[in-house]
Amino acid sequence: MDNARDIIFYSDLGKHIPRFIEVIEGLGKDNLLIDIGVDAGHSSRILLHNATKSNNRVIGVDASDKVVDNIKHPNYSFIISDSVTAGKNYDGNKADFIFIDTTHIHEQVMAELYFLWDHLEVGGVMGFHDSDAASYPPNQHFGGNEWAPVEPGILEFFGLKGKVLKNQTNKNISVEHHTGDYGITFITKKTDKDFKADISRNRWEEIFSARDSLVQAEMREMKNHFGGMVVEFDLI
Ligand SMILES: C[S@@+](CC[C@H](N)C(=O)[O-])C[C@H]1O[C@@H](n2cnc3c(N)ncnc32)[C@H](O)[C@@H]1O
Repeated sequence: MDNARDIIFYSDLGKHIPRFIEVIEGLGKDNLLIDIGVDAGHSSRILLHNATKSNNRVIGVDASDKVVDNIKHPNYSFIISDSVTAGKNYDGNKADFIFIDTTHIHEQVMAELYFLWDHLEVGGVMGFHDSDAASYPPNQHFGGNEWAPVEPGILEFFGLKGKVLKNQTNKNISVEHHTGDYGITFITKKTDKDFKADISRNRWEEIFSARDSLVQAEMREMKNHFGGMVVEFDLI
């Protein structure tokens, strides 16, 4: 159970799995890792890689509890919650790694960053799946609206220039970006800079209102999909 290389045979993380496992190995020992968007548990299993030996603890968070009944590991716990509410309510230790893989929408990932980035240790890493807009199916529809993908949301939150993510480093973060297979991005937090404060209050109101209408539509659609096993999403 502890060696992700032996247990992950198929996942939509695709070609990014070996690098993802290396990033987890690179964290060393005694870490807290949080998996936001668990589904069948592939990312949680990667976060559990060598967990016993490394004394790492993993918390999985998902809006549906139907998805993860097959992870039984003493170092694993699961919270049923929507991602933003989990970030708002979290009062535990800061995490060394947080992986975000929920609904792959610009405003959703920005709201998650607003409430989760502060829970990451300086020196910790945040990972994002589906962060390569060019390899992610365009024109996502929820509630009859069309939504922009994750990549521009990450660029906007961190105030990064350009239309696409690139490997880069500055005083506050370093970005490791991989394209293809929907994309995966790892951002290392180098300082406690408050990125939220660089975005105007009006813009945050717009983002929160879009995220709220997205999750209301999503909740109806997920309830249909998962047969009612979905928590109520709190509005921001
Ligand atoms: C793409 S899957 C996650 C895949 C998983 N990370 C893996 O590697 O196998 C997305 C998951 O996010 C969950 N989800 C969607 N919106 C969410 C939200 N707002 N908060 C928490 N979980 C959410 C869904 O229930 C689903 O299980």
